[in-house]
Amino acid sequence: MKNLFNEDVMAIDTYIMVKLKEKTAQLADALEKKNRRPISLSMGAPTSNPPAVLIDKLKEFLTEDNIHTYSVTRGEPYFRQAVAQRMKNHFGVELDVNSEICSLLGSKDGLANLIRFIITPHHEDKQKDIILIPDPGYASYGQMIQCSGGKAYPVPLTKENNYQPDMESVLAKLLEDGYDRSKIKALIINYPNNPLGVSASREYVKSIIDFCKKYDILLISDAAYCDIYFDEKEKPFSVLEFAGAKDIAVEFFSLSKPYAITGWRLGWLCGNSEVVGRFAKGKSTIDNGIFKALQKACAYILNSPEGEDYIYQGNLDYKRKQAIMVKGFKELGWPIDENSLPHTTFYLWLPVPRKYNSSFKFCEDLLEKSGIVIVPGDAFGEYGQGYFRVSIVCSDEQLQEVIDRMKADGFKY
Ligand SMILES: Cc1ncc(COP(=O)(O)O)c(C=O)c1O
Repeated sequence: MKNLFNEDVMAIDTYIMVKLKEKTAQLADALEKKNRRPISLSMGAPTSNPPAVLIDKLKEFLTEDNIHTYSVTRGEPYFRQAVAQRMKNHFGVELDVNSEICSLLGSKDGLANLIRFIITPHHEDKQKDIILIPDPGYASYGQMIQCSGGKAYPVPLTKENNYQPDMESVLAKLLEDGYDRSKIKALIINYPNNPLGVSASREYVKSIIDFCKKYDILLISDAAYCDIYFDEKEKPFSVLEFAGAKDIAVEFFSLSKPYAITGWRLGWLCGNSEVVGRFAKGKSTIDNGIFKALQKACAYILNSPEGEDYIYQGNLDYKRKQAIMVKGFKELGWPIDENSLPHTTFYLWLPVPRKYNSSFKFCEDLLEKSGIVIVPGDAFGEYGQGYFRVSIVCSDEQLQEVIDRMKADGFKY
């Protein structure tokens, strides 16, 4: 079948996390033989059990009448009501249950669909619709945009700009690079950020909202990590808290990380009713919503004391795990400034050892020699070269084992 897929889709490589999984599986036997059974610090997927009450509720709902039939794309009313309640409880944001919320089969599904709904595909680079994305940032943004026939333009998050770049300068650079301002459809922001673990100030987010209003750009806030934080002072907030934000903004939320249910596939989109409405219409041609028992169980957990306690305890665990890894990496010579450690997400973002000039090579060596799976920084964008991401989601013992293996196998900064 010649020319079946378009050029943009043909140019897409398998998602980095899937590639790492495949490569690890290929090496697993050999690694096992040398007592280096693979330890994965690559996926952003909590490995703890979900809240017990969530499982109990799911079991209970599994036997309800009419629970196994199709749901609806927007989400069952009880799920949307629970979302509205949570947005009010957590952020003081008021949402209309009927027009400002849509359920998602995970926020990845939602992001991919919204991106393809707003892009008109083109093949010529300068003709493409543009979406501004954080760099380093979630590896899927760029691939989703490319797959949809659009152009992902990087917004550099660097230490120098305190990970809060001045958007007018980004725009000036984009024009200098020969792109057309009118092609910019949307700006994606992701605070707390994967992979950096940084968050943004309220003033900065306000300036982003003003920027998007000024240039008539849709603001897409990806709040997948809004529940993962160790410091009350850096408690993540919603962009929808700002007056007038709903005029230009939508926000993605995920249940994957806070409740360790990455396999369940639940999230929601909320905000601007026109965007949410169009999105829900488009999506209704694609899926029939989330399994109702999952929606019902999650509607419970979203506003329950058990759910809040689970998140609180989980964050204490991540803080402890971060301390284990920071201590270990420091012993291995990494220059880590304790004052600039992430207070959000479960990631550590570190420079590759001095003798390496490629993130990929370091990660490959660490996997092949020690069975430790981490992610090369350039998988998150061009500004990630020279770094790697560690996901600190496994047990304390496994994290210590990682440090011990690195010591034994001669890895140091
Ligand atoms: C920044 C970011 N957004 C979205 C997602 C997707 O999460 P899910 O599809 O499980 O809701 C992830 C997953 O790692 C992520 O890191």
